[in-house]
Amino acid sequence: MRKRPSVTVAAVDAKALETEALAAIASASTLDQLDTARVRYLGRKGELKQALRDIRDRETGMTLNAVREAIEQALDVRRAELERADLEHQLAEGAVDVTLPGTPVPRGHLHLITQIRREVEDIFLGLGYEVIDGNEIESPHYLFDALNMPPTHVTRSPLHTLYLSDDLVLRTETSPAQIHAMESRDSPVYMVSLGRVYRRDTIDPTHYPIFHQVEGLAVDRGITLADLKGTLQLLLRRLFGEDRDTRIRTSFFPFTEPSVEADVLCFVCDGEGCRVCKYEGWIEIGGAGMVDENVLRFVGYDPEDVSGFAFGWGLERIAQLRHRIPDIRELWNGDLRVIRQF
Ligand code: DAH
Repeated sequence: MRKRPSVTVAAVDAKALETEALAAIASASTLDQLDTARVRYLGRKGELKQALRDIRDRETGMTLNAVREAIEQALDVRRAELERADLEHQLAEGAVDVTLPGTPVPRGHLHLITQIRREVEDIFLGLGYEVIDGNEIESPHYLFDALNMPPTHVTRSPLHTLYLSDDLVLRTETSPAQIHAMESRDSPVYMVSLGRVYRRDTIDPTHYPIFHQVEGLAVDRGITLADLKGTLQLLLRRLFGEDRDTRIRTSFFPFTEPSVEADVLCFVCDGEGCRVCKYEGWIEIGGAGMVDENVLRFVGYDPEDVSGFAFGWGLERIAQLRHRIPDIRELWNGDLRVIRQF
């Protein structure tokens, strides 16, 4: 008769195997260890699986399957225990003490340039002006031609102006907003437009290739230089103090005739002469003038019927002068020690 050692061996082994496996499962203290035990006792290469494969009789089969079920059940129970322990551990670790003060979230505030921008907008809204948006990307048509700049004008050079392509350019001034405003409505027009402008300038204490301007335009019947002076004086007094003296003196811009430059009496020395005003007694704020008839005609307005004034000033310049900020870069480099002061 053929010897059938496997049955006896399996039956004996089965009990020992079960005891060993249950002990290993019980002593697994992490899910990883438990998995190692599972592979060892139920894995494809484990003793039990091998024995199950070799089964020849029903009784052995039942014994081995019972062992397998016992091991599986023990694994499930232990896994649930370890998972719960894990979860409890995590909850204990991550527990939040709701009575502790929270982590403070630092609160920001508007940048000085944005503050001045809104201040200027408010002043003009109070005068009944519209605040309109301009385009930071313009065509040479709006940036130059419409503003009465001949094809030879120096600002048209790519050495001064940042071209995106032959017919797209980053605006060097907010003045094209005047043209868009007049093209889109009939006179009277009273508008300001504030925003970024771009120039191919080397960075130094008074230059930065991006800065902000406020553009203003008033076109109506009978507008004169006196209206311009009165308006600029009001703006300068609001910005620099109610009894600041102001003056205008002649200048040149292609899109205004006559053109002027507006000055405010030095608010450091009151006209005596000091370093801030470079011993002039006056500080230059920006350009202005009566809208050139060519510009009015360009947008289809009749210079016999209406006239207007315009101005364009730098916001960084206003900020630097008002707060004596010696270097324009301070407004751009985001140093909180500077920014928090305003
Ligand atoms: N656009 C000029 C500049 O950037 C400033 C300027 C001067 C604007 C006179 C005006 C104006 O509207 O009338 O230098």
